[in-house]
Amino acid sequence: MREGTDFARRLIDWQRRHGRHDLPWQHTTDPYRVWLSEIMLQQTQVATVVGYYARFLDRFPDLASLAAAPVEDVMALWSGLGYYARARNLHACARALMERHGGAFPRDPAAIAALPGIGRSTANAIAVFCFGARAPILDGNVKRLLCRSLGIEGFPGAPAVESRLWRDAAALLPAADVAAYIQAQMDMGATVCTRTRPRCDACPLADICVARREDRVAALPTPRPRKAVPERRATLLVLRAADRVLLEERPPAGIWGGLLSLPELPDEPDETAVAAYCEQRLGLRLVTVAPAPTFCHTFSHFRLHIRPLLCAVEALPQAMEPGLRWVERKDLARAALPAPVRKILSAIP
Ligand code: ADE
Repeated sequence: MREGTDFARRLIDWQRRHGRHDLPWQHTTDPYRVWLSEIMLQQTQVATVVGYYARFLDRFPDLASLAAAPVEDVMALWSGLGYYARARNLHACARALMERHGGAFPRDPAAIAALPGIGRSTANAIAVFCFGARAPILDGNVKRLLCRSLGIEGFPGAPAVESRLWRDAAALLPAADVAAYIQAQMDMGATVCTRTRPRCDACPLADICVARREDRVAALPTPRPRKAVPERRATLLVLRAADRVLLEERPPAGIWGGLLSLPELPDEPDETAVAAYCEQRLGLRLVTVAPAPTFCHTFSHFRLHIRPLLCAVEALPQAMEPGLRWVERKDLARAALPAPVRKILSAIP
C-alpha cells in the first residue's frame, strides 16, 4: 500500500516530536518489564498503572521471584487495579515460563501468544519492543485510530470487523522503525485520537482521515450493539468483633476470584435471614445490624448494587466454615481486597 508508508511515516515523525518518551516501561527491552506493563495497561490508564508498576517491580524484580511467590502475594499487589484474572494469569505465565521455557520469553510472537493471559496484540507488542519483530498491534486505542482514519464501519469487537482491522494494521506497518510506530499508535490513541473530544487539530493524520473528511469522528468506532446490562444486588456483611473484621476468600473463578472479601448474601435478605446465615455458616450470633448506604459498582458485564450491613456479633460454639478469617483492622491495608470492599471498610467508624 503506497498510502501505508505515508501513514506510518506521519505517525513516526509525530511520535518523535509529541509522543511519550519517559514512561517507566520505555527504554528497556527486558521482556519481563514490557510484559508486566502491557498487562497492567490493558483496561487501565497510564496514570494509575505507574504506581502499581513500581511497587510490583520492587517486590518482584524478575520472572523467577514472581514465579516463586504465592499467588496471594501477587493478588495483594494487584488489589485495586481490577480485572483480577490478569494477575492470576500473570502468575501462571511466570510459572509456565520457568517450567517450560527455561525462565525466558520465547521470541516468536505466536509462541508468546500461547502463554497464559497473553493475546495476539500483547504478544506482538512484546515481540516488537523486546525482539525487534515486525508485527502489528490491535488494542482498543489502535482500533479507534484505524476505524476513524480509514473510515471503518461496524463494532470493532465483531469478528468480521476485527479480521479486517488486523489485515489493515499489518498492511500499514512500516519496513523499519516498527517500535516507534507501535508506540506512536498507542500514544496517539491515548492523547490525540481519544474516545471523547479527540484533538483533530493536533493530529498528523487530519488531512487524510476519512472520519474527519466525512464528519463521522464522533460516530466511529461504531459502538457495541447495546444489550441491557444486567443488574444484580448483593448484601455484604461487615462483621465486627473487637478490633477485627471477618473476611472470606472468594472462590478462584468468578468476580474477585482469589481476593479476600466480606461474607456475601445475594439480594437484600431481611434481618432474620441474615441472623440465620451468621449462625449456620459463620457460627456467630448477630447482636446489632445497621445498614450503610447502598452503592453501585460496575463490572464489564453487569452492575452490582451493594448494600453493606454493619453487624456486631458474638461467637457461638459452632465452628466456622473454611475460608473465613478474622483480620485485624490495622492489617486491612495490606490485604488483597477488591476496591469496593476497601471503600466499605475504610468508611466504617
Ligand atoms: N498502552 C498499552 N501499552 C502501552 C505502552 N507501552 N505505552 C503507553 N501506553 C500503552
